[in-house]
Amino acid sequence: MKISSRSLSGFVLLALAFITAPGHAQRFVPPPPEPQSTTVSAPRPPVPLPPPSLPVALYLTWQRDPATTMTVHWHTEWTTGFSDSVLEYRPASAASAPWVRASGRVQPMPFTNRMVHTVELTRLAGNTDYQFRFGRLVSLEGEGATSFEAHGSVHTFRTLPATLSRPVKFISGGDLYGGANLELLGFMCRAGAALDPDFAMVGGDIAYVNDEPKAHPRWFDFFRVWGETMRAPDGRIIPIIPAIGNHEVHGDTYEIRGGEPRRGMSTDRALFFYTLFSFPGRPGYNVLDFGDYLSLVALDSYHTNPVPGPQTDWLRATLAQRRRVPFVVPFYHVPAYPSVRSFNGPTSIAIRANWVPAFDEAGVRFVFENHDHAYKVTHPLRAGKSDPAGTRYLGDGAWAVNTRVVLDRDKATFVDRSFSRNHVFEVTLHPGRADFRAVDPNGEIFDQFTINASRP
Ligand SMILES: [Fe+2]
Ligand SMILES: [Fe+2]
Repeated sequence: MKISSRSLSGFVLLALAFITAPGHAQRFVPPPPEPQSTTVSAPRPPVPLPPPSLPVALYLTWQRDPATTMTVHWHTEWTTGFSDSVLEYRPASAASAPWVRASGRVQPMPFTNRMVHTVELTRLAGNTDYQFRFGRLVSLEGEGATSFEAHGSVHTFRTLPATLSRPVKFISGGDLYGGANLELLGFMCRAGAALDPDFAMVGGDIAYVNDEPKAHPRWFDFFRVWGETMRAPDGRIIPIIPAIGNHEVHGDTYEIRGGEPRRGMSTDRALFFYTLFSFPGRPGYNVLDFGDYLSLVALDSYHTNPVPGPQTDWLRATLAQRRRVPFVVPFYHVPAYPSVRSFNGPTSIAIRANWVPAFDEAGVRFVFENHDHAYKVTHPLRAGKSDPAGTRYLGDGAWAVNTRVVLDRDKATFVDRSFSRNHVFEVTLHPGRADFRAVDPNGEIFDQFTINASRP
């Protein structure tokens, strides 16, 4: 068959049309090979990480036995970059010991640019100094592992002994950063830290923020001063053990009308408190057992929990389980036996009706109260009457607030002594007894006494 040139050109056009028709894959045309090189090119340097978001607040607390654990809290600002909730620690005495890595959780601090990091260290040795440092995790390319890139300084803390093999010392107070007097807060913290305590108990009204979003800079100020001052003479960080007060709660829930709180009662009214501190945590009351010798019982005096009902039931069970513990120490905000305010305040009445009988039954030797902004030591009381085997109520919260005029003695016959004076209590536990001293912001000791343990 003869094919005309016209027919041939038509066939080529048809074939080209088929090859380039939509939906038909075009052929891949490889690029021309690169000229061979005899030198190996250097690997590209890794893209540098942005600077880490450094801690802007650092404090310690406990959720479980202080002889074997430590909880580290720190804040970073999320606007300056991401930061891992990770740290490394090791015994301070073994500088060549390998660092151990621990990680935890992070949550936003409400209404702020801050993140609150929480890492709990467990299985620690008792009565031991530890070092720790912050850092971030960096992936090691090709090795399937991460390395820890440390930043900032190395900090230290000390665990508590599991038995009372040495004196254990703590300071206790409440009503800290009221008003605008950060200077007074600094003085009182320095005077307390100079006593070389193992920890600080804080019975509410910490920064007077009232859970108000706009007042959050008061928390920043509080943690700045606390972090700068609450260091023991050897430089270690002094942990804080807090309880809740009315100024941690939106709208001051201590105001009770007709036997009931004036506003609704919920932990959601104290978002800052429950985010910033993992102890006592929700529901707002909790117990911390120190080895075999001390149990601290944090209570909520009508701020986010009613006094009667589940909290009192829990208190009774908690005290009953600790009959063999020589020092069982409840602490809370509103006093059962006030040194300044009315004896007939509704919260004080509720505490005397519900908790005081439980203290009496368990043989509690001393408790810490706050809220009245004065210094107070009651007589030992049992069922409200002087009794040498009774409970001393120590208070009344004047860490760094303006103090108030105390009640005349005829209106407060339960009071042994009271003064309008800023202070913290120093408590030193020995086998069988606790020694107390009252210290003012200038470091002056203005009172001292001893209370025997519930049992030897
Ligand atoms: Fe207060
Ligand atoms: Fe208060």
